[in-house]
Amino acid sequence: MTKSTEVDETAVARATMVKLLAEGLRANPPRIPAQFVWDKEGLQLFEKITQCEDYYPFAAEGNVLKFNIDRILDTISPGAVVLELGSGSLEKTGIILEGLCRLQRPVDYYALDLSQKELDRTLDRLAQTMPKNSCIRCHPLLGTYEASAEWLAESRVCHDRDVTILWLGSSIANETDTEIRKLLEGFASAYSRSRIRTLQLLVGVDGSQDSTQLSRAYDLSNDLSRRFALNSLGSINRSLGYEVFDPTAWRFRGAWNPVKMQYETCLSPTTKMEIYIDGEAIELAAGDLVRVITSRKLDRLSLEKLVFGAGFSVTQSWKHGTCNYGLYQIEMLE
Ligand SMILES: C[S@@+](CC[C@H](N)C(=O)[O-])C[C@H]1O[C@@H](n2cnc3c(N)ncnc32)[C@H](O)[C@@H]1O
Repeated sequence: MTKSTEVDETAVARATMVKLLAEGLRANPPRIPAQFVWDKEGLQLFEKITQCEDYYPFAAEGNVLKFNIDRILDTISPGAVVLELGSGSLEKTGIILEGLCRLQRPVDYYALDLSQKELDRTLDRLAQTMPKNSCIRCHPLLGTYEASAEWLAESRVCHDRDVTILWLGSSIANETDTEIRKLLEGFASAYSRSRIRTLQLLVGVDGSQDSTQLSRAYDLSNDLSRRFALNSLGSINRSLGYEVFDPTAWRFRGAWNPVKMQYETCLSPTTKMEIYIDGEAIELAAGDLVRVITSRKLDRLSLEKLVFGAGFSVTQSWKHGTCNYGLYQIEMLE
């Protein structure tokens, strides 16, 4: 494994974290930025969540990959660069990389995520499952989605190579329409400014509208959803080096929003609080809802509309046999 490439060194700097937190809490609705939700502890708790039967999206996407693996691999050429956004546990990525290895199709694989320690741990674990003399070279990439577009534009490893951007776990649906469009436009701009030969995305998207299934998945009966959400407060305290929030003064609040077709995982303070961040006081009232994660549920049409606005189109899809989970190939419009 190569040494980690720091996509965005300042993303881990305290001053940046303070600014991010202040922006998040002042937003409407207030939210906890991803950098605090997905720290080492958050990622490890999420890995436990993915092993729960009720958290169906993980197994559903794994099945889609396994049942369609040869056709999915047909879209990745020998010598390609595969960049995964939010690589997480790498368990499903293993299905793709092992398949490429079986076909003797060499690629450079870059795992992008927000915790260096977790990138190292998960890539070491992946290396143990890959055959010796594997033709897949794996690299950690610490940084944000936003910074990945600049990395693509500037990285010499992408010169004269096909690039596949993997975005699994329905993580795309945690972002707003504006964020997704901006990111796709960033990828298109990286393509036009660089020597990348072709660029495609393979994106996993959940389209379930079953409120019972969704509530079971996002508010697990074993308390993991609550622990995952509350960890973000602990993460803020660890990151800023003092007790900004007392996690015992907050409640987990998760609910399916049928109008917006999204599951909203929130935390809510039990008493009024005033926090001083970035030189300013931010007030939260008892019962306010602070977003931790928004899991939108998108059908093919909504995804098509969304990516079309940024100059991309859905060119192929592979669907789960029974639930509404799909893996979509997205390419730039001519
Ligand atoms: C829903 S999890 C999916 C993990 C994994 N891809 C899977 O399918 O199991 C979202 C992943 O994206 C990462 N992530 C979230 N926001 C991010 C951001 N702004 N920049 C980089 N990674 C991010 C998280 O750390 C986490 O690993």
